[in-house]
Amino acid sequence: MMMLLKLITAVAAFTATASAGLIQRGDAAADAINTTTLATLNLYEQYSAAAYCTRNTIASPGTLITCAAGNCPLVETNGATIAYSFKDIGVGDVSGFLAVDPTNSLLVLAFAGIRDIAGWITKLNDRLVPSTTVCGTTANCTVHQGFLNSWSSVSGIIVPQIINASATTGFTTLVLTGHGFGGALAALATAQFRTTPIGNIAITTLLTYGSPRVGNTAFATYLTTTNATTFNFRVTHTDDPVPKFPSRALGYLQWGPEYWIRSPTGAPVRTFDVDQINGTETSTGNSGTPFSLDFPAHFWYFNAIAACK
Ligand SMILES: *[C@@H]1O[C@H](CO)[C@@H](O)[C@H](O)[C@H]1NC(C)=O
Ligand SMILES: *[C@@H]1O[C@H](CO)[C@@H](O)[C@H](O)[C@H]1NC(C)=O
Ligand SMILES: *[C@@H]1O[C@H](CO)[C@@H](O)[C@H](O)[C@H]1NC(C)=O
Ligand SMILES: *[C@@H]1O[C@H](CO)[C@@H](O)[C@H](O)[C@H]1NC(C)=O
Ligand SMILES: *[C@@H]1O[C@H](CO)[C@@H](O)[C@H](O)[C@H]1NC(C)=O
Repeated sequence: MMMLLKLITAVAAFTATASAGLIQRGDAAADAINTTTLATLNLYEQYSAAAYCTRNTIASPGTLITCAAGNCPLVETNGATIAYSFKDIGVGDVSGFLAVDPTNSLLVLAFAGIRDIAGWITKLNDRLVPSTTVCGTTANCTVHQGFLNSWSSVSGIIVPQIINASATTGFTTLVLTGHGFGGALAALATAQFRTTPIGNIAITTLLTYGSPRVGNTAFATYLTTTNATTFNFRVTHTDDPVPKFPSRALGYLQWGPEYWIRSPTGAPVRTFDVDQINGTETSTGNSGTPFSLDFPAHFWYFNAIAACK
């Protein structure tokens, strides 16, 4: 009951700033995606799903990545292995893994999200703080203090592992991904690596799924445009409530481009179900959907993303 009251308070704060819209097809401002892009979104969604499996976050280096819930078959087919796993480390119990994908000759850093989303979303409202580590020289750039504390508490552990894995494999390409809270960490990590590159490692792809907002307008613009050689996308699903927190009223803005999946929860995702919405947050995508407590939409991205235990 207490939880529900807190949630209603959070929702009320949100709806005050929401711009209502409908989930509609064929919007002139949006494009369907091609099959290559769909396959990429699908693959890294499965890496994000695999980060929920304890077996993968406690595995020793060299272990093949598998998902008991059967929700990472593409990762399994690629023969991906663990380079470094981490479970409940740092501030906010960060879990995930650094993987080696021999099929694509690259490294993948994947962060797990949080299953108890209804309890967690109410705690999301937090101060925006400056961080030159993440923002570089970008003026007025501020980020979520809690997410920053989490990322800062683990970056010193993870970065040396990326350097080690790159030296061991010879792979110099890194993809960052994660769902929910994991997506927020992946976005902060990407921003930091753009500001301070890790040796000669190229960050080619950032793909987050159902990530909450991470920073202010300057941060969103920075991640969207500055040095964005990255295949740099924020994936959302129908009216998933999580990307709408923390509120715009607190100064937050989502980065872009957004790939907005419009197919319903439980249904397969096809190329024409995904709209590409360029630039920072607009009401053309998830942000414009009427507010809901549709948590099932948060947990369906191509498959039941948090199903693996
Ligand atoms: C979004 O950007 C892509 C790539 O730059 C471009 O091909 C597409 O036409 C743009 N879509 C819209 C609606 O502007
Ligand atoms: C698919 O779309 C992506 C992103 O817009 C583009 O970079 C790529 O060249 C396209 N691939 C094909 C085969 O059309
Ligand atoms: C570096 O990577 C190798 C291969 O994954 C691993 O066996 C080794 O323990 C790693 N070294 C450190 C210092 O973590
Ligand atoms: C940064 O914030 C200050 C004070 O609000 C403002 O005057 C300035 O124009 C901002 N700079 C940029 C680049 O947004
Ligand atoms: C963008 O990249 C250039 C060249 O690598 C670098 O000097 C600059 O600091 C980067 N900007 C930001 C905001 O990270």
